[in-house]
Amino acid sequence: MKQKGLFITFEGIDGCGKSTQLKLTSNYLKKLGLRPEILREPGSTILSEKIRSILLNKNIKINPISELMLYVAARAELVENTIGPALDKGKIILCDRFYDSTTAYQGFGRGLDIKVINKMNRLAVGKYKPNLTFIVDIDYPTSLARMKKMNKVADRLESESKAFFARVRNGFIDISRQNKKRVVLLNGKKPIEKIFDEVKDCLNRKLKIG
Ligand code: ADP
Ligand code: TYD
Repeated sequence: MKQKGLFITFEGIDGCGKSTQLKLTSNYLKKLGLRPEILREPGSTILSEKIRSILLNKNIKINPISELMLYVAARAELVENTIGPALDKGKIILCDRFYDSTTAYQGFGRGLDIKVINKMNRLAVGKYKPNLTFIVDIDYPTSLARMKKMNKVADRLESESKAFFARVRNGFIDISRQNKKRVVLLNGKKPIEKIFDEVKDCLNRKLKIG
């Protein structure tokens, strides 16, 4: 049976501008009289937020396999408790990151087996999958410059090397190529409004507006 509701995810390396596009999307949908639910990964449930605080803590050393399992555990909780029930009710969900981040960061970034990651992701999400995914693409120097501008103290993941982020970025580009029907790759170096014009076009097509 076709999945009810609409599940939209926003992805890309840190500082790419996905939260900005998510917020604009939420405002746009609200103006249309819709009531999107906003979530983030890892997080958005009591347990997943606790897992998030472990994952992002720079003082906790985590091996790549444990890291993968913790991200997947946070996802399983969120899908079971929030995403699944909301979609079953026909709601619209906007999620800041989802399983493509695991493929990009733990798969391409850490070098873990993509087939294993796909299996674990499937286990965590069951029948619930994003209908539409926006990947905002920027290079590492742009990411660093934006973080610096925000005066953000780098968390555990953000403290990774240039080479790590180059692999993660390539991972996201690869995901966009492998999932052409679901994923829209956006040039994150364009002005915010120009990027959102593209997002809006895709949304309108999905919602069959215009
Ligand atoms: P993310 O959620 O991907 O980490 P944010 O949306 O929080 O990124 O954006 C990170 C920073 O970059 C913010 O200061 C934001 O205002 C800025 N920003 C977002 N999109 C753009 C853009 N297209 N061009 C320039 N700056 C941007
Ligand atoms: P967050 O502060 O939400 O990053 P951002 O503000 O850039 O969205 O931190 C989430 C971090 O976790 C981010 O560096 C990406 C990473 N991550 C993974 O490595 N694997 C995953 O499956 C997910 C969901 C996130």
